[in-house]
Amino acid sequence: MIEINDLHKRYGDKTALDGVTFSVRPGEMFGFVGANGAGKTTTMRILMGVLTADSGSVLRDGRPLTFEDRRRFGYMPEERGLYQKMRVAEQVEYFGRLSGLTASGAKKATGDLLEQLSLTERANDTVDALSLGNQQRVQLAVALVHTPEVLVLDEPFSGLDPLAVDALAGVLAARCEAGVPVLFSSHQLDLVERLCHSVGIISAGRMVASGTVDDLRDREGRGRLRVVVRGASPGWAASLPGEVVENGDEALVSDVDGDGQDILHLAVKAGKVEHFGWQRPTLTEIFREAVA
Ligand SMILES: Nc1ncnc2c1ncn2[C@@H]1O[C@H](COP(=O)(O)OP(=O)(O)OP(=O)(O)O)[C@@H](O)[C@H]1O
Ligand SMILES: [Mg+2]
Repeated sequence: MIEINDLHKRYGDKTALDGVTFSVRPGEMFGFVGANGAGKTTTMRILMGVLTADSGSVLRDGRPLTFEDRRRFGYMPEERGLYQKMRVAEQVEYFGRLSGLTASGAKKATGDLLEQLSLTERANDTVDALSLGNQQRVQLAVALVHTPEVLVLDEPFSGLDPLAVDALAGVLAARCEAGVPVLFSSHQLDLVERLCHSVGIISAGRMVASGTVDDLRDREGRGRLRVVVRGASPGWAASLPGEVVENGDEALVSDVDGDGQDILHLAVKAGKVEHFGWQRPTLTEIFREAVA
């Protein structure tokens, strides 16, 4: 279990983090989201020890992280760093050796990862000959090669095509199932909603929401009904109790008190009810609301 407790960080008179707290459990995929400049990279750098916090702590299973702990983490920094003139396989193996793998262990792990990330055919190309997305895949292979105990990935999905997104999602899910806590940042909220068990939303250096994706959607979605009535006359939804947004046959009613049966009765009177149900917000909607 990785715990991030009340991190504070200032750059001169600019506050980057103002009390960031969350935790990632073994086998949990945690999506870290927030607007540009919100503090995601700063938090991850502190977690990885490349930056020190002004106050607050990062714990693993209740005790402060050590250099040795972090050596067994997989980290993909925001500032990508590959040797441009080194060949793909050679490079991934090299980083595997640096992280303590044997020569044969590094070779095997590299072969497997290049296969999973569809890079096998590029194994002998130098990095500077690769497209941006393929360089990104190499960067991921480097972060994953030593079978890390914890994964900390800063925007691992950026720049990947849809097939590569699926391939990476599969690799991360497998690591997660093996019990690894996975923390990654992303601006692709649909992807975060699809992949993650939990999310944390950071805004201007503060956590404004965190929890499981299901809980957040349930909590934020309480009291919102979507009603679709065919053949209703325009303005049919105006008299419904609650905050109503009418769009043709469809009405979204927020702030509904009770079980909504009164609304159902009014809808039946207005026409043919084709849909009537509670509507949970998407992560994108929750995000907009939370950072507004
Ligand atoms: N070295 C630095 N010197 C001064 N300010 C910095 C430095 N690094 C980050 N900041 C500031 O700290 C704040 C948080 O930045 P950070 O890079 O953590 O955001 P982020 O959430 O990763 O954003 P993005 O989505 O754009 O990557 C920003 O206001 C940024 O300008
Ligand atoms: Mg960043």
